[in-house]
Amino acid sequence: MDANRILNILADGDFHSGESIGEVLGISRSAVWKQVSQLEKLGLEINSVKGRGYRLARPIELLAVEKIMRHLDEREQQLFRDIDVKSTVGSTNDEVKAKDGAPYVCLAEAQSSGRGRRGRDWISPYGTNIYLSVAWSFDQLSGSLDGLSLCVGIAVARAIEQLVGLKAGLKWPNDLVYEQKKLAGVLLELEGELSGPMRVIIGIGVNVEMSRAAGADIDQQWVSLSEISRKTVSRNQLAAQILSQLADILPEFEQHGFSRFTGVWREFDVLENVGIYLVQPNKRITGVAKGVSENGELLVATGNGVEVFRSGEVSVRVDG
Ligand code: BTN
Repeated sequence: MDANRILNILADGDFHSGESIGEVLGISRSAVWKQVSQLEKLGLEINSVKGRGYRLARPIELLAVEKIMRHLDEREQQLFRDIDVKSTVGSTNDEVKAKDGAPYVCLAEAQSSGRGRRGRDWISPYGTNIYLSVAWSFDQLSGSLDGLSLCVGIAVARAIEQLVGLKAGLKWPNDLVYEQKKLAGVLLELEGELSGPMRVIIGIGVNVEMSRAAGADIDQQWVSLSEISRKTVSRNQLAAQILSQLADILPEFEQHGFSRFTGVWREFDVLENVGIYLVQPNKRITGVAKGVSENGELLVATGNGVEVFRSGEVSVRVDG
């Protein structure tokens, strides 16, 4: 079933009778009922009232290429002219990988096998969040790739600040958090040689309007943008804002590396001077986070002085 056809009718949040929906879609009333049940299986809450018909408990704005384009300037429209919005996919990162060329952008309403970092699942219910992947090619990189994932985090944090006026925090390397709860995440995948031209797949997930029920299986504390801003956030506008920030940041990173962004990082860094554990495959480092290096590595003050780390999972120590 193409969920978007019936959702285009229900998106306004008003009641629509089974008969009128059936007429528009050219299907019987019982087929309409079946499609409504499918929407419920996708995690959408539908009110069904005898004599009035069906409506979405919360109106939604479906993603649409034209709506995203409308919020980009001419240069950005030209840069991101190859953009697709899909209904349900496995993972938008895989959609992008399967297509040659760059820049290429793919967004989806839902992911059936969304991936997070470190092999985790990324819960991706229908029509409520951003699942966005961008293929970007680098001819030559000035400096290390480590800083790239931090730059993408900065782009998303800036987009959120521009659109909603809220300052999310960045937790090294690229988790976006609000009051220590996860708001968005970034998954980078590389194709090609570090020494030559390469294509990077930048996957971004933002919790926009996820209901508590849909996010019940997430194994960490999380928040969504609409919850913290108390506003309805347009996903099309947010997607455009993220693309627009990437259009500025990625070329600058390619030319100059991460060192230009260390100041911006500090604006968003939630770990600076905080007691942390850094967990690596076979050791756990205890120390105090001291910001990041010119290459985007994590600096940690330990018993051995300030040490530099390229990888690991950070958790905040409750004892400070
Ligand atoms: C994290 O663990 O913090 C990274 C989450 C990345 C999720 C996004 S959603 C779009 C893209 N497709 C995926 O399967 N994952 C990324």
